[in-house]
This record gives sequence, structure tokens and C-alpha cells, in this order.
Amino acid sequence: MFFRQVLNDDTACASYLFGCKTHSAFAVVEPHVDLIDDYIALAGAQGANIVAVLDTHLQADHVSGLPQLVARTGATAYLPEGAGVDFDHHPLDDREVVALGNTQIQAIATPGHALAHHAYLVTDDTRGQEPWFVLTGDALLVGDAGRPDLHAHGDHTPEELARTLYRSLTERLLILPDHLLLYPSHYSGSLCGRGLSANPSSTIGFERRHNAALQFDSEDAFVEALLQDVPPAPAQQAEIVAANRAGHAVTEVR
Ligand SMILES: [Fe+2]
Repeated sequence: MFFRQVLNDDTACASYLFGCKTHSAFAVVEPHVDLIDDYIALAGAQGANIVAVLDTHLQADHVSGLPQLVARTGATAYLPEGAGVDFDHHPLDDREVVALGNTQIQAIATPGHALAHHAYLVTDDTRGQEPWFVLTGDALLVGDAGRPDLHAHGDHTPEELARTLYRSLTERLLILPDHLLLYPSHYSGSLCGRGLSANPSSTIGFERRHNAALQFDSEDAFVEALLQDVPPAPAQQAEIVAANRAGHAVTEVR
């Protein structure tokens, strides 16, 4: 398996290019609009095609590069079922698998930061039949859990989303083995969490022990703490969400 974490320090966004070299099938997860050429060059240098582009959820803090990368490569776009975008894509169900030769990506529904949010569990069949790492999106970050307010609307209050996130964390992510590598979608400098580490990688076990948001023994205590000290909303949030929903190659909104 080829794997490369691709960072954008301007927005503190982490994205991922990985996949099977043997079958020339790479995926990009959480592509940033400013890094399209980088993904294509990196894949080209490995002699591989980008055949799948995935977002973990409809982004609210930065413009996704997914539509442009799909247009440039002919890859299939994948988003969680219910993401609510207005362009052609394959809506991924919970537990659905995207196969890239010897690399398997399994969607794990982890709502809470957004109602439609998937983590992606990745297995390299050439190494073993158990997952090697998990891309946690904005559900679980290095040092915090995802903020519950950006995608709140109507009856889906920040408190309700925080309760949903608690169940996603405890029932879907923290049941994974301690040794599993964890790669988030943001790191220090991002508004998507509080006190995030500048190290954009961890393990399930290290976060279980040391992530401040995971040290509570009840849902109520977790929710109360997650609703404290929420960072300010990203500038141009409404415009960014609209652009990501439409899938236009928007360049004015960054
Ligand atoms: Fe987000």
C-alpha cells in the first residue's frame, strides 16, 4: 500500500492519498481545493490512477476539492448517505466497502459533528485481514472531539449532535483496537476543535487515554464539556457550505 498524508497549513486541514500500487487504484480522502495538483502529481509519480475520492462529511470550514479532483481524474465521488450534496456521487451506507485492489476502505457511520459523517477504516490485504488505520474525519481529532454546532439546524441542536457524537465515539470508534493508527481531518490551528495537537496522527489507544474529550464517564458529562468554549464559527461558513453542496469549482471562497 502507498500512503501519504497531505497537509494544508493555511486551514490546518489534513487529507490522504493512499491505495494499491499493484492494481493502480488510489483514493483521496478529504481533498483540499488548493492541493488538487499535488494529489495528481503524487499519484502520477507512483504510476497509479486516482479512482475514488471521498469526503467524510459536507465540509463547513474549507472548500472541498472533491468535485474538481473527480472532474480532473474521472474518479468516483463518495460521500456519506444523506450528505445532501447536489452533484453526482455514490452515497455510502454504513459498513459499505470501497475496494481498491488490495486496499479496502470501509465506511463507519459516525454522526455527531455532522449528521451525515463517516469515518473510513482501511485495511491492506497484503499485510493482514484486520484494519491498519482509521481516518476519523471531524468526529475524533488528536486532542479533542469534533465541535457539535457547525451543522446544527432546526431540531438538531448542538446538544443533540453532541449526544449523537458521544454514541459514535463510544459505540463505533473507541471499540476499535488500541494499536489502530488514527488520522484526523484537522490539526492545531483549525477551528474544528479545541487545543488540537500539531501532530496530525495518533492511535485509538493514545486518544482513549489522553484525549481530554474522552475522559468523561457519562454521556451528560461529555456533552456538557463539549458545549463549553466552542471556537468561533469559520469565516464565510454559509458560502463554504453552499459551494460544497453545489460542487461547483468555486475559487472565490477559501
Ligand atoms: Fe467539519
